[in-house]
Amino acid sequence: MALYAIGDLHLHYQSVLKAPAQLRDRVWKNHEEKFRKNCAKLITGEDTLVLVGDHSWGKNLAQCEQDLEYICELPGRKILTRGNHDMFWDVKKTGLLNEMYQPRLSFLQDCYECWQDYALVGTKGFTFEGPFYLDHRGRITGWDEEALAHSRKLVERELQRLRRSFELAKADGYRKYIMFLHYPPTNILEERSGFTDMAEEYGAQQVIYAHCHGESRFHDSIQGMYRGREYHLVSGDFLRWKPLRIAE
Ligand SMILES: [Fe+2]
Ligand SMILES: [Fe+2]
Repeated sequence: MALYAIGDLHLHYQSVLKAPAQLRDRVWKNHEEKFRKNCAKLITGEDTLVLVGDHSWGKNLAQCEQDLEYICELPGRKILTRGNHDMFWDVKKTGLLNEMYQPRLSFLQDCYECWQDYALVGTKGFTFEGPFYLDHRGRITGWDEEALAHSRKLVERELQRLRRSFELAKADGYRKYIMFLHYPPTNILEERSGFTDMAEEYGAQQVIYAHCHGESRFHDSIQGMYRGREYHLVSGDFLRWKPLRIAE
């Protein structure tokens, strides 16, 4: 009955692969096969796997069918949250996705899933990623104010969605939470954020996130114990395609 997590599979069975790192870096070579084998070794039919976004490069559902089928075929119960590249997933049509893929996949958005006595809550999140202005030593000296103002709006919307997820679980009597985001909970300028504050407000025991690819991004946000919560980065290339066992 263990709980596993990973993110950023970036599957492309039916679509054109555009990300340069995915074409270049060895860690991405046959990553679908590496991940499939690791899941077969680790995950049983009793276990749960949460996939925290960037599932597919497909631009619409028709272009993602084989990618979603690949996920369906993995062992255990599968719960998906949205990533910034998941164009197939319109928030307003989450109900339709759940109807289409029930009982093989669960799409977590504006709702929660239960696992043992925990509520699994989540949303895509958002993080300001620049543009930043750098000095000749590569230190940040400023950033695009317009982009920052826009990012604040997106953060606010995602916080509302996350709160909905927590509140629904709370109304149903849950008091133990694990929180899932796609984006890191803080950007590189922040020590805390609306997301870390909400994790603390509701007493989430863990915060799981992905989105950061490549060595240079792996330490963009919080990892390990921080202000009483455990934070884990689970992007697939960071985990080298071995899903992380976050609870059992
Ligand atoms: Fe990604
Ligand atoms: Fe992403």
